Amino acid sequence: MDNLQAQEKSKYHKMWQQSEYGMTSPVMRYVDGILEYAKQNYCKTILDAGCGNGKFMQRAIEDGFDIIGIDISLNGLINEPYNLVPLCIEAPLHQLECEKKDLVVCCDVLEHVPQEWLKDTLKALSKACKKGFMFSICLTDDHFGSLIGEKLHISLLSIEDWIDLIKQFFVVQLYKRVGNDLLVVGTSNGNQG
Ligand SMILES: C[S@@+](CC[C@H](N)C(=O)[O-])C[C@H]1O[C@@H](n2cnc3c(N)ncnc32)[C@H](O)[C@@H]1O
Repeated sequence: MDNLQAQEKSKYHKMWQQSEYGMTSPVMRYVDGILEYAKQNYCKTILDAGCGNGKFMQRAIEDGFDIIGIDISLNGLINEPYNLVPLCIEAPLHQLECEKKDLVVCCDVLEHVPQEWLKDTLKALSKACKKGFMFSICLTDDHFGSLIGEKLHISLLSIEDWIDLIKQFFVVQLYKRVGNDLLVVGTSNGNQG
């Protein structure tokens, strides 16, 4: 593990030890829409990229999906009612290697990824994507990092730059700004990136 990886892992380990952070789950703002999209597009298998406390995974299992998660630090995982440990990988996204999943969900994570890892991160997500993807990306600073004296949103790009970057690895079908979030939806590019 190199220095940057050790620093990032330790940062999120500390973050998930903060009780306020433990309660946050940005993806749950979109859970109904994501799972409805998955059903309409016959997606049975899901990758939750940056699964955090696992609330989205719990709900997806409840709704009958086959889901796995990956996160750089899994100490925030809530293992009730389902034990998520066997379904999760602890690693940074750019090191992900897994069987393809129908849908890749990555909510409130890409802006946390150091810029030097962004291309490899999107490449790894693209390789893991069989059909579709849904990303939400916060466009503004975070307010939790100050609890541990760290900045969490370290990749703050413009909407145009995010879309250009994502298009190198996916087919973008639509994107829109909702409050401080950029929502991006699309399909696999057949892994040409
Ligand atoms: C704001 S939380 C979002 C968690 C979850 N997606 C949600 O919406 O509830 C950001 C998550 O990204 C994870 N993370 C940050 N950098 C990462 C990286 N390079 N690879 C994998 N996970 C990362 C953190 O550990 C944290 O769980």
